[in-house]
Amino acid sequence: MRTTTRDIARLHAEGRRFTMVTAYDYTSARLAERAGIPLILVGDSLGMVMLGHDSTLPVTVDDIVHHARAAVRGCETPLVVGDLPFLTYATTADAIDAARRVMAEGGCGSVKIEGGRTVAGTVHTLVDAGVPVMGHLGFTPQSQHTIGLRVQGRDTGAARRLVEDALALQDAGAWSIVLELVPAPLAREVTARLDIPTIGIGAGPHTSGEVQVWHDVLGLFDAHVPRHTRRFATLGDQAVEALQALAAEVEAGAFPGPENSARMDEDALAAELAGLDTVVGHDGLGGTDGAGAQA
Ligand code: KIV
Repeated sequence: MRTTTRDIARLHAEGRRFTMVTAYDYTSARLAERAGIPLILVGDSLGMVMLGHDSTLPVTVDDIVHHARAAVRGCETPLVVGDLPFLTYATTADAIDAARRVMAEGGCGSVKIEGGRTVAGTVHTLVDAGVPVMGHLGFTPQSQHTIGLRVQGRDTGAARRLVEDALALQDAGAWSIVLELVPAPLAREVTARLDIPTIGIGAGPHTSGEVQVWHDVLGLFDAHVPRHTRRFATLGDQAVEALQALAAEVEAGAFPGPENSARMDEDALAAELAGLDTVVGHDGLGGTDGAGAQA
């Protein structure tokens, strides 16, 4: 059974913190599910970590649908949330169309959109139409050219506006709100003032849950680790070491070995090929070193 927004509301009501992690394909969604993570985000961060863009702006609804379908196929229980990309919810008609595609074609159970009071009307329309909506406040990457890549809500006026935005999203029917790059005391105050859960990233420990990007927490990049994240593994380094070992064994002729190779009847092969120019060896594997001939 898939986790529902009500299940998350129940966790929140019981005071239990929960985790959301981004996952953009079948294999990572399977791993997230094995780890017991209840929420998967097919975020538009895929533009950077999967597609190599330098921002989320080029991401399309097609991209989200493509990756969401793979992630949804990879897991049975997590609730999969899909981002509505840049400029796909500027009008109500666009928002409904994008949400329909992300949910009906991508298989997501909720969409996420960035913004506060300016998108509250859209949130209301989507929720009325039956679309579960996760909000996103603080640093909203789709507005990075306006607000800059920095902590938001540091001055008290901006902090007040962020609280008002959060309340507006809740009133509009959002079931949860991501708080990205927000000072911890502000995230605590927002969380205390809302009935719906907040999900922090770079927002301190007082949110209802935490979201992190797959590649950050698993250490898939060797670049600078942002302050808001922590490497719980160094899979990037491990992958490089494993690939170096593979290349070394291939170059040394040590891989593939007999256990990786298919056998056949040598005599039948020789008989069939008799008279052809090419001569094969007699190791049972079609090679000449005899490896595995007895197995
Ligand atoms: O796209 C994304 O990964 C996100 C998270 C950072 C919340 O929006």
